Amino acid sequence: MIYLDHNATTPVAPQVAAGVVEQMRSNFGNPSSRHGVGRAARAALEEARARVAALVAAEPVQVVFTSGGTEANNLALKGFVHAMGVRRVRFSAVEHASVRAPARFLASQGVDVAEIPVDPQGRVTPAALAQSLAGAGPTLVSIMAVNNETGVIQDIPALAEVVRHHGGWLHCDAVQAAGKIPLDWQALGVHLLSLSGHKLGAPKGAGALVVDKAVDLEPLCHGGGQERGRRPGTEALPAWVGFGLAAALAMEEQPVRERRWHELRRRLEAGLRRRFPEVVIFSESAPRVANTSFFALPGLDGEALLLALDEAGFAVGSGSACGRGEPSQVLQAMGVERELAQGAVRVSLGAESEAAEIEAFLDALEAVVSRLRRFAGVVGG
Ligand SMILES: Cc1ncc(COP(=O)(O)O)c(C=O)c1O
Repeated sequence: MIYLDHNATTPVAPQVAAGVVEQMRSNFGNPSSRHGVGRAARAALEEARARVAALVAAEPVQVVFTSGGTEANNLALKGFVHAMGVRRVRFSAVEHASVRAPARFLASQGVDVAEIPVDPQGRVTPAALAQSLAGAGPTLVSIMAVNNETGVIQDIPALAEVVRHHGGWLHCDAVQAAGKIPLDWQALGVHLLSLSGHKLGAPKGAGALVVDKAVDLEPLCHGGGQERGRRPGTEALPAWVGFGLAAALAMEEQPVRERRWHELRRRLEAGLRRRFPEVVIFSESAPRVANTSFFALPGLDGEALLLALDEAGFAVGSGSACGRGEPSQVLQAMGVERELAQGAVRVSLGAESEAAEIEAFLDALEAVVSRLRRFAGVVGG
């Protein structure tokens, strides 16, 4: 199987897996215990925290470990609104479900919630943001750093300036940005930032919310003082240690990976254009992370392509929401026609992706497309 779906999840690097196993074998203590076994576990926890903080150039004390990006996003929105007394939330029209759903939940509790539109490339413009904040009182704004489908990079520093100018607070879902582009807490200018371990080579079950020191959060669960009371419950030390190791590795290798991805994606998209002149590559003219290409072949169904490619030994993503046949909300927000959006396929590269895999993918896609078109021709009569 050739795996080209790294925005869904990534394999765990061997050295990270080895570190996790070692952690479970020899450092099983509870970080809250005061004896030596507990103190050793706490030291490992704090080392992991420092590594995750370094990934975004923040201070370790700002890092609240979670189970992943979904929990970090929920804690950011619900925890902030409940603790800070802010009654207005705005989020971009291309946010992940783990931002949209807690925002909807807050709306059901009487919070004033609305979407910020994006331009046809999927970007939030400072003007659109300013318009959505005009005349509003204190507002929590949520805008992702990088979109999981298109790979589009938002100009977070510029947007943060608009939010601050309006006296608001900015949460940034950086789940798809970490490890793909450099992230710097100070330069971003946000108040809350979400991360997920399994998107950058860590085991599942690890994420983090990085929090400005001036921000209070109401925890989602109650029952303990862990993570300075913000995320009670005994720490998932193996996963979080793995997150720390993967974060350090991703940071070290990021410039090299990014250069390779640029070359591989150039090869992929040139090959797509040569073999399928009708191909539409979404957000092509916007800044995108180098590992992601999201495209559609008019008249073909993305789900059918994904399944046929799977049978041929290639794992890619589609634009539909969890196989429910609904076209991508991201593409709809960008004003892409429903029929074209239905055909979207996402290729996302990983640390180990190679040129030979791209060539094999292009060959397989050509074969699959001609088979599906023949079949459609027969069925269509
Ligand atoms: C942009 C974005 N935010 C949040 C999440 C959720 O992260 P997790 O799978 O760690 O809960 C994802 C996962 O697909 C994502 O792509």
